[in-house]
Amino acid sequence: MHAFAADPALPKPELYRELLAAADALTAGEPDAVANMANVAALIWQLVPGLNWAGFYRLQGETLVLGPFQGKPACIRIPLGQGVCGTAAATLTSQRVADVHAFPGHIACDAASRSELVVPVLRGGEALAVIDLDSPTPDRFDAEDQAGIEALAALVSTRI
Ligand code: SME
Repeated sequence: MHAFAADPALPKPELYRELLAAADALTAGEPDAVANMANVAALIWQLVPGLNWAGFYRLQGETLVLGPFQGKPACIRIPLGQGVCGTAAATLTSQRVADVHAFPGHIACDAASRSELVVPVLRGGEALAVIDLDSPTPDRFDAEDQAGIEALAALVSTRI
């Protein structure tokens, strides 16, 4: 068991450097994608403050299917192009949504969610999965959060 504690005083770039280093250490040499996604979801949950959901959806054909996560049970299947997750996977671009109620087609898995950050995990120009972070705080995610999770997604792409 590994205990990683979030230091609320840590500047975000340092927090995300710690997250990346911990994810690298935990997944190095482990070929099982589910195990690696499970540990990365748990690390995000432990180290990134202010979340009510953190985890993965994996692209299976034209559908995103729920993967390892932390938080309340969530929607299992999201068609490509729908919701924040499906938009990130279809456009291959991160979606940073300050107010989920203002996002057309947002899929409310947890009514407490107010803002959301979804980053695609890319390999060879295609989406393998997305990393989804939800927060009960409006406008919780900024460009530093996006850059940190994009760096994590680049690592995850080599470990799943
Ligand atoms: N809100 C997401 C659905 C997934 S849950 O937030 C865990 C969306 O609109 O795609």
